Amino acid sequence: MREQILEVDDVSKTFQVKAGDVTAVDRVSFTADAGEVTTIVGPSGSGKTTLLYVIGSLEKPDSGTIEVAGHNILAPSADLIDYRRESVGFVFQFFNLIPTLTALENVMLPMDILGTSPEEQRTRATGLLERMGIDGRLLKARPNKMSGGENQRVAIARALANDPDVILADEPTGNLDTATGQTVIAILSALAKENGKCILMVTHDESILNVSDRAFHMTDGRLSEITVRQTRPGDGARLGG
Ligand SMILES: Nc1ncnc2c1ncn2[C@@H]1O[C@H](COP(=O)(O)OP(=O)(O)OP(=O)(O)O)[C@@H](O)[C@H]1O
Ligand SMILES: [Mg+2]
Repeated sequence: MREQILEVDDVSKTFQVKAGDVTAVDRVSFTADAGEVTTIVGPSGSGKTTLLYVIGSLEKPDSGTIEVAGHNILAPSADLIDYRRESVGFVFQFFNLIPTLTALENVMLPMDILGTSPEEQRTRATGLLERMGIDGRLLKARPNKMSGGENQRVAIARALANDPDVILADEPTGNLDTATGQTVIAILSALAKENGKCILMVTHDESILNVSDRAFHMTDGRLSEITVRQTRPGDGARLGG
């Protein structure tokens, strides 16, 4: 049975800039399910990042409703700090790891903020990194001593630290070569198929449509669903239990 985890209804976001108003997200409605990869493709400036930030509560929309796992995140009573820490994980194009922390410490940090014990942080972070193929000397490496693909795999482990329902990925392959990008996509796809995560990706890269369960095209802030046919459902990634 499909489990709808994300429901976006009639969401708009306009920025006021000197030149006038820019409606980055224009009355967008869609749903995304647990265990599926949902992809939004569209040109630069079409509103993809803004939509992701609104869903992740890094930006406040002007109107509309957003429900995640049955909770209205825009309700006055909603605890947005808890929501950001526990219900969503972000993966960015430029990784956004903390440069002064090691790979292991970057993954431990979100758990530390929630008050998880240091031993549990270390055990869980090591396990997540291992599943991403990051172990040995890399655990103690800082981001500038790791490749782009390694940085992104650490960032995915960090996004998983507090076991969120939803992973929001903004151009996760945008800064990677094709082969490394495919590995990252296979990992995200496996997180949907094997771990039941709801993966929402925004990208310019139309090849990602091949591994998507559902896809939308975004132009000028508006969303329309497109038909996808999967060619490689969740292959390639070594993700255990
Ligand atoms: N903080 C902001 N203030 C003003 N305008 C903004 C802001 N953020 C985004 N915009 C505008 O909103 C529109 C959508 O931007 P957004 O970054 O969401 O696009 P995008 O689809 O992610 O583009 P790209 O593919 O280049 O990352 C653009 O016209 C942009 O200039
Ligand atoms: Mg963007």
